[in-house]
Amino acid sequence: MTVVKSPLSEDSRKIVADALQSALVDLIDLSLIGKQVHWNIIGPRFRSIHLQLDEVVGYARSASDLVAERAAALGITPDGRAGTVARTTGIDTVTDGWVKDAEVVEIMVGALHSVITRMRERVTTTEEPDPVTQDLLIGITRELEKEHWMFQAENA
Ligand SMILES: [Fe+2]
Repeated sequence: MTVVKSPLSEDSRKIVADALQSALVDLIDLSLIGKQVHWNIIGPRFRSIHLQLDEVVGYARSASDLVAERAAALGITPDGRAGTVARTTGIDTVTDGWVKDAEVVEIMVGALHSVITRMRERVTTTEEPDPVTQDLLIGITRELEKEHWMFQAENA
């Protein structure tokens, strides 16, 4: 059923749909993992990392909304259901229980690295079919790389 008419050709729409859907899943999972370690962090650096994690979570949530709404605007239905996220995320999950502060930083460096690697691939694949979507993904990648830098600096 076509409810929202896409400005893109069918071929372009498919490429952009894959990029936006996988970006949505990664961003939702990044926000979930960020909260998981925000709640379970222990150690002398608890306070600063606990607060830094909420910056990432807040950004990931708002970016996921931008990505999902960009999809909808192109006639692509976004799927942010828990089962879809669990099945298709590109981020490694974290163990349950308390996590030491230095390990939390490693987890976030790894998670951000995974998301950024795939975001840069999406930036490349969307360049020709939809530069407007590419522009959105570039902005999100820029912010994620900033967070990645700050977590790497934490454990240096
Ligand atoms: Fe909190």
